[in-house]
Amino acid sequence: MKTINRRTFIGAAATASAGKAFRPDSILANSGSHSINNVKPAILGGPKAQPGGFPGWPIYDHTEAKGLLDTLYSNHWGRLSGKVTSRFEEAHSKMYGVKHSLGVTSGTSALYAMLGALGIGPGDEVIIPVYTFIATYNVVVLHYALPVIVDMDPESFQIDPKKIEAAITKNTKAIMPVHIGGTPCNLDAILAIGRKYNIPVIEDACQAHLAEWKGKKVGNWGLGGAFSFQSSKNLNCGEGGAIITNDTDFYRACFAFHHQGQQSATASIVAAGAGIRGSNLRITEFQSNILLSQMTRLEEQAKIRNENALYLSSMFKEIPGLTPAKLYEGTTNGAYHLFMFRYDKEGFSGMRREQFIKAMAAEGIQPSLGYGKMDKDPYVTGLAGNPFYRKIYGEKEMKRWLERIDCPVNARVTDENALWFLQTQMLGTNTQMEQIAEAARKIQKYSGEIKNK
Ligand SMILES: Cc1ncc(COP(=O)(O)O)c(C=O)c1O
Repeated sequence: MKTINRRTFIGAAATASAGKAFRPDSILANSGSHSINNVKPAILGGPKAQPGGFPGWPIYDHTEAKGLLDTLYSNHWGRLSGKVTSRFEEAHSKMYGVKHSLGVTSGTSALYAMLGALGIGPGDEVIIPVYTFIATYNVVVLHYALPVIVDMDPESFQIDPKKIEAAITKNTKAIMPVHIGGTPCNLDAILAIGRKYNIPVIEDACQAHLAEWKGKKVGNWGLGGAFSFQSSKNLNCGEGGAIITNDTDFYRACFAFHHQGQQSATASIVAAGAGIRGSNLRITEFQSNILLSQMTRLEEQAKIRNENALYLSSMFKEIPGLTPAKLYEGTTNGAYHLFMFRYDKEGFSGMRREQFIKAMAAEGIQPSLGYGKMDKDPYVTGLAGNPFYRKIYGEKEMKRWLERIDCPVNARVTDENALWFLQTQMLGTNTQMEQIAEAARKIQKYSGEIKNK
């Protein structure tokens, strides 16, 4: 498959957003017929647009098997005596062009350790987006800090920088944007706010392996970045995570936090002044070994997802009612852990989004509904009644918090518009991308009929 470099990515994204078809040469050569003629959608008894299946996940071979056995027979299963985790961290930091990488047990642990290293605790506030996985919220609460949930930009699904500034108070100790779906949030705007108020930016890049902003990997722009290696992620070892940073003092504080407050894997010396707290968040040698093998495939897989996502975007641009999530100007690579897009029923004879999902699923192409309304979730709103939070912040402040975190844009988008395809679907063939578009066109053509079914 043809390589897309930075320049062609921007060009392709711009072409897609200008509404014209972008089709790399290799895709043109492989493209099948787009004609839907009078073929009925599968939900109305027609043939499935996608009769095969998308690639399975995880992808592995004897490389992973050998790595696991090597670690097994080495008798060094943990990083304190083994060497594999250090090798992984070296390779990982090289891949990201960053000074330090620290392997940890999960993406949640990576975020938790970074907030711990910053010394964040009761009375502090951390700004996070509403449209994210619940872990982004949980790590703030684990430190008894106040998660200040900020609304999304409906075009990109990313945190809205304009609303970040309005959410800052004298207690704000960190801004924690997420590169949701694996495409970069508006880093320039967010970093500028961080600089203006002297507040560190911690990037939740858990879904954004190899995504780039202005040619530099995300996770590498703020004080630190977090990655997840949980099973579904584009780089995966079952469970695992990493912190990357260019700040050596911050790295040391993160290391100490993840290793019971100790300064290094070998010395048992409590790290002076490094947050005064610590845990065991150490990754195992088995996980690190799998990651080393998986990393040999990551770049090629990322290229495939990118090309497919851009191709699909260009086709969606020509289907009224389907709009790929906007890429900000600085985006030079998306990870496409999720291919996020908007569904507007007006383009489909007023057919509800749930009917579209059902009709696509019948074609062999399952879209996902995605995240919901975190600000209204009883799990989150229940924090206002948490006895510790009442004690720390007071009942009145917690009531006010419920008002502060209201996110009406997210409510509308998640109720009516948001849809995703998964990274495994983005690993499919060019033809499969065409089949997705073909299915959508068929459904659109017959939407009046499907709506009344
Ligand atoms: C945006 C985001 N943040 C944090 C996490 C937490 O990562 P983990 O599951 O490895 O703890 C995830 C994982 O799904 C995520 O998607």
